[in-house]
Amino acid sequence: MSKAIYPGSFDPVTFGHLDIIDRASKMFDEVVIGVLCNSAKKSLFTTEERVNMIEMMTEKYDNVKVVSFEGLLVDFAKKIDATIVVRGLRAVTDFDYEIQIAQTNKVEYDKLETVFMATSLQYSYLSSTIVREFASYGGDISRFVPAEIVPLVEDKYKK
Ligand code: PNS
Repeated sequence: MSKAIYPGSFDPVTFGHLDIIDRASKMFDEVVIGVLCNSAKKSLFTTEERVNMIEMMTEKYDNVKVVSFEGLLVDFAKKIDATIVVRGLRAVTDFDYEIQIAQTNKVEYDKLETVFMATSLQYSYLSSTIVREFASYGGDISRFVPAEIVPLVEDKYKK
């Protein structure tokens, strides 16, 4: 049985993430979305909020579940017995960072294979950082995140 982790900060989850989740759910028997709980990195949403948002958007998939993790991805992979990591690649600018992480993880845990998925063309510009930046200036983010997520992001900047 193939069990893949799709790790990330998902602060917030975007259409680009959901596209990767949809495609990964068709490629692997089980996809565990690993939401990074990183106390050093200040996120807009709490870990619980990020998990809840992704759960809400992935209810329809029987083989997708959402779990938060702290610390190293390799340790999380060992803990849940997963040997595949899925990451989306948007542009060449992602590559340096992604290959470094993938190779470090492989050195640390040889069984762990990273699979890069080419981001769909319509989402190649999209990132959570762009969503936060746009929303912080009152921009319309409905093209970037699902309708259910839009007010949750907007509310953060009203406070
Ligand atoms: O969505 P992001 O923020 O680009 O995701 C980055 C993520 C979560 C994949 C990466 O930061 C990660 O795996 N962090 C956990 C710590 C770790 O294992 N780092 C990689 C080896 S240095």
